[in-house]
Amino acid sequence: MTAKPPNPRRAQIEAFQAQIWAFYGHSGRHNLPWRGTSNAYKILVSEVMLQQTQVSRVLEKYPEFLRAFPTIKALAEAPLTHVLAAWQGMGYNRRALAIKRLAEEVATKHKGKIPRSRAELEALPGIGSYTAGAVRAFAFNEPEVFIETNIRRVFIHHFFSSQLGHPMSKLVGDKEIMPLVEMTLDRTRPREWYWALMDYGSHLPKITKSNPNKKSKHYVQQKPFEGSHRQVRGKVLKFLTAKGKCTVASCAKELELNPEKTKGVLGELVHESFAILTGKTYAIRH
Ligand code: ADE
Repeated sequence: MTAKPPNPRRAQIEAFQAQIWAFYGHSGRHNLPWRGTSNAYKILVSEVMLQQTQVSRVLEKYPEFLRAFPTIKALAEAPLTHVLAAWQGMGYNRRALAIKRLAEEVATKHKGKIPRSRAELEALPGIGSYTAGAVRAFAFNEPEVFIETNIRRVFIHHFFSSQLGHPMSKLVGDKEIMPLVEMTLDRTRPREWYWALMDYGSHLPKITKSNPNKKSKHYVQQKPFEGSHRQVRGKVLKFLTAKGKCTVASCAKELELNPEKTKGVLGELVHESFAILTGKTYAIRH
């Protein structure tokens, strides 16, 4: 079941834009470091980090990562162990592997320059529709149409809340939201417009009783990290990154894990191309 897409009139669109711009004027997060650059590499790094990690954590890690790998060339040439080590504390390590492979691919296929077209961006490792749109808007100031969790929250709150009062109300799909993102986009300054939308969206939970995104078809509640498979994976990868090599037995012993579980996780890391297995020894790939 899907909520009905509203069809706002010009005046409603303008009122919405005015509200978002006014909020941005007095409460925008104007000094986030990734907003002070239009360097596509730096923007890409920030967007990949911000996808699944809180802004406060990214604020710590982003400058460290850029100090270690100041250019896409530096990232392409760095050993994977260094990249994984710099990523530690951010979680979801697949992103570190993907951005490293992306840098290598940009070096070999695009002469070291991040491409500008959506199709070429989306063909790069780890880049989906959101990241491609965000890079085009934030690095190249292109009037792209894209959505992420904060933007979704703004549109659900503003355009669908009258349909959502009832507990049986229908869920809102991104298909219903995207035309509104397009209709309301300020094409004269897309870069700032998306900053403003994101800031308003991240502020909304403070002023709404229930998170509007619970009414999204795409809503997934984060599972607890403590005791999760993801936590064990993180520990094993951290150990392997620090040591360079290990066996099932040495890793299980050091981390006080069950050997079967350890073997399963190390197998996963091989399967996902983080590591290679030679005889009984697991090692981080180059
Ligand atoms: N500024 C630019 N991109 C952002 C993002 N993904 N989250 C928060 N602020 C941002």
